[in-house]
Amino acid sequence: MDPSDTVPVIRVSNLTKRFPPPRKGLAGWRTLIEQIRGVKATVTALEDISFEVRPGEIFGLLGPNGAGKTTFCKILNALVIPTSGRIEVWGHESVREHQRLAQAMITIFGGESDLFGLFSARLSTERNLQFVGDLWGLPRATTQQRLDEALELLDLEDKRDEWYQKLSGGTKQKLFLAIPLILRRPLVVLDEPTIRLDVPTRRKVQEVLKGVLNRQLGTTIVLTTHDLTEAERLCDRIAILNRGRLALVDTPQGLRKRAKRGPRVVFRVRLENGRASTLREAFSRALPELELKPDLESDRARQDGLTGFSVQLPRLQDGEQSPLPRILEALAAGGLAPETFTMEEPTLEDVFVDLLGEQPATD
Ligand SMILES: Nc1ncnc2c1ncn2[C@@H]1O[C@H](COP(=O)(O)OP(=O)(O)O)[C@@H](O)[C@H]1O
Ligand SMILES: [Mg+2]
Repeated sequence: MDPSDTVPVIRVSNLTKRFPPPRKGLAGWRTLIEQIRGVKATVTALEDISFEVRPGEIFGLLGPNGAGKTTFCKILNALVIPTSGRIEVWGHESVREHQRLAQAMITIFGGESDLFGLFSARLSTERNLQFVGDLWGLPRATTQQRLDEALELLDLEDKRDEWYQKLSGGTKQKLFLAIPLILRRPLVVLDEPTIRLDVPTRRKVQEVLKGVLNRQLGTTIVLTTHDLTEAERLCDRIAILNRGRLALVDTPQGLRKRAKRGPRVVFRVRLENGRASTLREAFSRALPELELKPDLESDRARQDGLTGFSVQLPRLQDGEQSPLPRILEALAAGGLAPETFTMEEPTLEDVFVDLLGEQPATD
């Protein structure tokens, strides 16, 4: 294996995977008849995708449920055979040459529990992890030292002597993440690594993945997620996958720049008699190109009489004037001084909606 700095770690070329149609009718006879009739009912999980993963980066595969993320990770592990195209890892084809790659990469499937039954139900966390170290031929002392560190990093100290079968789903998932920390292979693939974790635990785990596994140990990480915030927080580059198609690959910052929209202005005003119509009229006269919308999220009319509004600004072209001063003028002309006034840059979620025209699925 040659984890050199110049060659991409992973090269995906025109990868397509179509699954056979789900069987309908008794023993699938209806599917069979449909196939004979020429009805094409295959499920396309991946459609002609190509990209590269560079050494040392955290590369995110971001997409809603059913986008094809797990299928990609499975092809990488020779668990699914592509219909056409290929993935190469350090120049070795992921399915045919998997034997040569297996030692250098670790994959953790977050959504699908129990890691091929690797952990024994009635052994402690510590014994299970020692066993993993043994399986991979690590010296016992090395395993023990890294295991102690991993348990501390992942807040699993108190689970050291607990039987595996007694652990909660979230704790099991954290435990899986101790494996790459102990084995320290140059490539780690994480399929939805935080899917079963609560918010504070998720943050903690994200810090360990980025701060320790990637930045400190230099591990190249491919990570799938449907969580935009997670992708933005962790990834150096993100590939957006939607229904098996690759929408684009970019840095989180680059993605944000692709938003068709500009910032959003949110403000709260105290309205005379709580009436919004006068403000709306004045606003549309002064700024006919912009739309003033009630903003429920910031609205506090029922608490302290402050009504929330938002205005979506367009993306400014070079040399174009911001409409911001005119918004303030329009408010002043109506005798209104905003009590709060904020500008929100477009989020990755906005880019997602602009690009895909829909909200990503969330759990
Ligand atoms: N073994 C399989 N047989 C048939 N269809 C499958 C199989 N595995 C996945 N699929 C289908 O392929 C698509 C992508 O699935 P998957 O890769 O699991 O998506 P994700 O992990 O992004 O949620 C889905 O439509 C799913 O139903
Ligand atoms: Mg999945």
